[in-house]
Amino acid sequence: MDTTISPEAPRARAYFEKLSTVSFAEAHRLKKKYGSPLLALSRSRARASYQSLTRALPNVRIFYAIKSNPHPDILKTLKEEGASFEVASYGELKQIMQFGVLARDILNTQPFLSEYDFTQCYKAGQRWFIFDNADQLTRLTCGTNDIDLLLRLSFPNRNCQVDLSYKFGATIKEAPELIKSAVATGARVHGVSFHVGSQSYTTKNYLKALVAVRRLFDQLQHEGILLDTVDIGGGFPVPYTCPLPSIEHFALPIRRKLYELFPGMNICAEPGRFICGLAQTLITSVNGKNIRRGVPWYYLDDGVYNSFSGKVYDHCVYSILTEGTGTYAKSVLAGPTCDSFDIVSEDIMLPHLEIGDILLVPAMGAYSNVSSTTYNGFSQAKIIAID
Ligand SMILES: Cc1ncc(COP(=O)(O)O)c(C=O)c1O
Repeated sequence: MDTTISPEAPRARAYFEKLSTVSFAEAHRLKKKYGSPLLALSRSRARASYQSLTRALPNVRIFYAIKSNPHPDILKTLKEEGASFEVASYGELKQIMQFGVLARDILNTQPFLSEYDFTQCYKAGQRWFIFDNADQLTRLTCGTNDIDLLLRLSFPNRNCQVDLSYKFGATIKEAPELIKSAVATGARVHGVSFHVGSQSYTTKNYLKALVAVRRLFDQLQHEGILLDTVDIGGGFPVPYTCPLPSIEHFALPIRRKLYELFPGMNICAEPGRFICGLAQTLITSVNGKNIRRGVPWYYLDDGVYNSFSGKVYDHCVYSILTEGTGTYAKSVLAGPTCDSFDIVSEDIMLPHLEIGDILLVPAMGAYSNVSSTTYNGFSQAKIIAID
């Protein structure tokens, strides 16, 4: 499968143009002022996505996963909206506490938090932690039982972009013993968390997980252990290559299942991508061109070592918009570094481009600039807040 697409059909183009945080005219203005490449960040987009998720999942406490994009403007905007935050290290905790967020409103979801990180987070006032194994439970509880715990469960999912149950999470079979061991420490054991996989294309895995968790809670209740919290993780998708149903539509079966199986319980979610994914558009320019073996090659000022790093780490397929129309031909889009691996797309249908032309890549807000490097001395795209 190709790694980027360039929508040719007018309706598809119009759809992705609407997703972009900037028009081509605005992109030209920004390029003139700040240079290229740029990431045009829209705070109002992040705000709108947060608000639509809270409407789609009422009574679910939202912990924004800051790993997806910790840009200060996004963090400040979400704090203003009343969001809570999810972190996985002491470094991330410090990042978000700078904005006056209280440690008690921050969930730490790292099941292998180092002793150093745990001690620092704890000293800073953080209390909510996650474990998925007995050693970590011992690390978290050997010096204290003034701590709130969730057990991370694993629910593998092929129908997503990144399976987050491969590396972390206890199986549902291991869960009763781990929870009983946690309760025995005297810590406040609240329930479980899971992540169905990032950019989940269906809700099936959420529903399957919720049914399994209900059975687990019932089994433990018979043994006198009452749990009160379910954390449904992230995974809510954004449209990269084709339109998706609205979040209201996507979340409805989850909302119904939560209402049916967990009335009155504390429900949390840890969305990242859904909140920041559409909040940034990449503005990149053609820096050079050539015909190689009969195929047009265009060399961009941004590549897989930079904003397109999501192609590698996030397995992401982006849609690229060009200004030109005309006849489309199979082309190659390459990044600026010396590495032949730095190819944005080998097989993309593009109109003829000239040096200096701008390309827009909407939906580059999540897992993009966070993994960008300065390899080969190429700067990362500047992030410019446009609204
Ligand atoms: C523990 C945890 N929570 C939340 C998230 C955010 O997931 P998403 O961006 O799919 O919403 C991630 C992503 O890696 C994660 O690892």
